[in-house]
Amino acid sequence: MNFYFAPMEGLTGYIYRNAYHDFFNQIDKYFSPFIAATQNYTFKSRDWNDILPENNQGLILVPQLLTNNATDFINASKKIKTLGYNEINLNLGCPSGTVVSKNKGSGFLAKKAELDAFLDEIFTHSITKISIKTRLGKDQHDEFYELIEIFNKYPMEELIIHPRIQKDFYKNTPNLEIFRDALSLSKNPVCYNGDIFSVEDYRKFTEDFPDVGTLMLGRGLLANPGLIPEITGGRQLEKALLKEFHDRIYEDYQKILFGDRNVLFKMKELWFYMIPLFADSAKHAKKIKKAERLYDYEAAVSSLFREREILSV
Ligand SMILES: Cc1cc2nc3c(=O)[nH]c(=O)nc-3n(C[C@H](O)[C@H](O)[C@H](O)COP(=O)(O)O)c2cc1C
Repeated sequence: MNFYFAPMEGLTGYIYRNAYHDFFNQIDKYFSPFIAATQNYTFKSRDWNDILPENNQGLILVPQLLTNNATDFINASKKIKTLGYNEINLNLGCPSGTVVSKNKGSGFLAKKAELDAFLDEIFTHSITKISIKTRLGKDQHDEFYELIEIFNKYPMEELIIHPRIQKDFYKNTPNLEIFRDALSLSKNPVCYNGDIFSVEDYRKFTEDFPDVGTLMLGRGLLANPGLIPEITGGRQLEKALLKEFHDRIYEDYQKILFGDRNVLFKMKELWFYMIPLFADSAKHAKKIKKAERLYDYEAAVSSLFREREILSV
């Protein structure tokens, strides 16, 4: 099985990505959180830093663009290519209101003719390979049948499918029936993404879909960074390793972020996903959330690691 690390804005930037890669490895491709392609061909320094080769040594990264403007996509991809990248991922999945209202991300899926024209343009003029990360549609699951006819016109590196619609956000469950149809209808290689949180989820998915060779995982890896070693080797995550992994991320954020508040904001976002890994963690979770100084945060994290055990998943 090929494993991809899903892009997650605010969470899987290069600090987390490098720590993950050094401690757990086993990821075939990482995808950058989305970078908005703008009309003036400039990138935010935060986005640019995230994909700089010196910040991503020894791992395979695919930068992701968010736009519905073909010229902006082409110009941004040319600039990204100067860093040595040969694949760009297009975000057709983001469900957030501010993105969708501009007909970008999964909002673009509702504009089928415009999407087709956009893809025609970028596949004709782009100088890199293109992969697409998509949902099934904006409002209805069966929009996918029209979308796949559009996607099939273009030779993409791969089609990554998160089988929800925009309206679902992250609620409900992935629509595996339509995903099954997608597998047989797609002329492009397909990667599955969605709700693989445990060894059991993996076992069930691979039993139901033995032909899928590539899985993208997001929240499942944030919640349990040791999930892939558990899937592939039956090795349960050790608390000491998780602590070292945490400390590395925490120290690295302190090197690049200004002020305790920013560091703590990042760490708390991570704990939102990771805290359920610990048994009976409500009290500790509250302490971590309330911490306003590094000293209080460190004390809360130390007592969590000292007093609580990791649940087996
Ligand atoms: C906080 C958060 C940020 C995300 N940021 C991005 C993003 O920048 N680009 C993208 O394509 N998907 C983004 N996603 C979606 C994930 O990549 C993934 O498709 C989704 O979480 C489903 O996979 P999972 O069930 O394995 O987590 C984000 C999801 C979350 C929860």
